[in-house]
Amino acid sequence: MKLLSVVGARPQFVKLAPIAKAAASAGVEHIIVHTGQHYDPMLSDVFFDELGISVPDVHLGVGSGSHGVQTGTMLAALDAVFDEHRPDWVLVYGDTNSTVAAALSAVKLHIPVAHLEAGLRSFNRRMPEEHNRVLTDHAADLLLAPTAVAVDHLAAEGLAARTVLVGDVMTDVLYEVRDALGTTPSALLDELGLEPGGYYLATIHRAENTDDARRLAEVVRGLAACDLPVVLLAHPRVVAKAAGHGIALDSGALVQHPPLAYADLLAAAMSSRGIITDSGGLQKEAFLLRIPCTTVRTETEWVETVDLGWNVLAPDPTTIAAAVARPVPAPTDVAPYGDGHAAERVIRELVDRA
Ligand code: UD1
Repeated sequence: MKLLSVVGARPQFVKLAPIAKAAASAGVEHIIVHTGQHYDPMLSDVFFDELGISVPDVHLGVGSGSHGVQTGTMLAALDAVFDEHRPDWVLVYGDTNSTVAAALSAVKLHIPVAHLEAGLRSFNRRMPEEHNRVLTDHAADLLLAPTAVAVDHLAAEGLAARTVLVGDVMTDVLYEVRDALGTTPSALLDELGLEPGGYYLATIHRAENTDDARRLAEVVRGLAACDLPVVLLAHPRVVAKAAGHGIALDSGALVQHPPLAYADLLAAAMSSRGIITDSGGLQKEAFLLRIPCTTVRTETEWVETVDLGWNVLAPDPTTIAAAVARPVPAPTDVAPYGDGHAAERVIRELVDRA
């Protein structure tokens, strides 16, 4: 069986790691194509090195651009790559422009497409990610759903026959790296002079929080007003937008810091008092580590984190300071994201259907 994965943005490299490992264990030939959507070393190369993923076989070097330009450039380049390799399956990941470009190119070349992390919905049509995931689900031949809620969404859209519940592959990699870390303290503590439990860890990068100057200023004010230092792991997008809008990222409680590699991120999260984010992956990682999360969005795709009390939505940034200072929720053993073996299930499903 010949599998071809298309990745391009940071969360996709994290999801690729357990898939690459499971594919190798099963003796599956695996070609990795990197679109180049993310190109900064701290958003890309560091994950390949750290998570033991082999260097991509093909790198499209697409880079940044408007949605149409970025997605179109990928589409144009992928036709030739798929034609050359003619895999049994193209595997696409999550909800980025790289996902929808690869799904569209493959389906038109009649190459079977599987969508990992299928069925997540925010029902917010202002989000580019929502269009990417809906279009990809409807184009794909096999929908690999991470949760029961995702399975229900796909069934409601008439896609039940193509759907399989496999669990969440980010859980696989999180458990493995968390266990390897053990009790190693976060390097951030020494670097920034912080105490365990004495800071919040924040990431903000979504278009809806960064593109509009007034919105970004409100979010920054909300973070700056917290009762403990807020370490903002600043994605290049928020750095660029803040500079463009003339907004300082180090006011009040805010401490600006470059993005972290994966194990460093988990260590920093585990030592924190709470997470503040608009990232999908980090909301779930916070839950899996049982660190309270405050999400600066109007909704979430990972509704289980909210239902179980570990995540609170704070669409109004003036409510962030109160939300993060809430008591730690009641412990739970519920495991809506699977058992840490989702990637093996994914590879089995693909091999069985090749
Ligand atoms: C993308 C995904 C988003 C995902 C996020 C993870 C889409 C539509 N969005 O958002 O779903 O949560 O990745 O990080 O695909 N930039 C750099 N260096 C880089 C990458 C980006 O400086 O390596 C800057 C550029 O100015 C670029 C901007 O960030 O214009 C946005 O990058 P882009 O890849 O378009 O989207 P993200 O915001 O990263």
